[in-house]
Amino acid sequence: MLTVENIHVYYGAIHAIKGISFEVNEGEIVALIGANGAGKSTTLKTISGIMHPRSGKISFLGEDITHTDGYKLPAKGLAQVPEGRRIFLQMTVMENLEMGAYVQKKPPQSDFENVFEHFPRLKERRSQIAGTLSGGEQQMLAMGRALMSRPKLLMLDEPSMGLAPILVEEIFKIIQEFHAAGTTILLVEQNAEMALQIADRAYVLESGAIALSGTGKELAESDEIKKAYLGG
Ligand SMILES: Nc1ncnc2c1ncn2[C@@H]1O[C@H](COP(=O)(O)OP(=O)(O)O)[C@@H](O)[C@H]1O
Ligand SMILES: [Mg+2]
Repeated sequence: MLTVENIHVYYGAIHAIKGISFEVNEGEIVALIGANGAGKSTTLKTISGIMHPRSGKISFLGEDITHTDGYKLPAKGLAQVPEGRRIFLQMTVMENLEMGAYVQKKPPQSDFENVFEHFPRLKERRSQIAGTLSGGEQQMLAMGRALMSRPKLLMLDEPSMGLAPILVEEIFKIIQEFHAAGTTILLVEQNAEMALQIADRAYVLESGAIALSGTGKELAESDEIKKAYLGG
């Protein structure tokens, strides 16, 4: 579904991504894990067209999207929940969801109902100003907004960041629900333990390159990973 081939990405003179290649097959949950600064967000931003690689190739559903502008990608079935949520703080929950559906003229009621099925709390708060939601609710809104574009591939950048453990459990449960409903998932996480539990396959990023890859289970059991990312 998604193929990333030997991409190199720079911030000016800083060589942030140094020849990364990986793929996501339809129906998978794939995790990208790694320490702070490893290049996880840069990789997602490059796939979603916010940045472009200096060399290498990115294909989605057989189409070369290496230089496609980011705003065109949701209509092709590729959606991202960015790091730090980036919801519209002054708008209501409903208005935020409508923004997620901007690829259609007017979203059908069933799209809102679909979001509210996964996130009953958003339904209760649909008229509330997003900036007054709790951190967990804002994460749910960011995920609900992405769902409004009916993505085939949903990319999530550290959805567990800053959330209490019970909310992290809830967010991961909802990611699995999305997956069960037919959405392919590319999950970026510093929380390697949780990510490896739900991932079919995972890649470990270190200093802008892939250091290790394997099934979620293989990596969760690897001594190297345990030492570096799972607290021994
Ligand atoms: N806007 C930026 N300008 C310059 N360097 C950046 C910028 N954003 C990230 N970087 C650098 O790129 C590298 C990868 O960052 P990032 O992709 O955010 O890592 P991660 O998401 O894994 O924490 C880091 O060395 C970081 O300092
Ligand atoms: Mg990041």
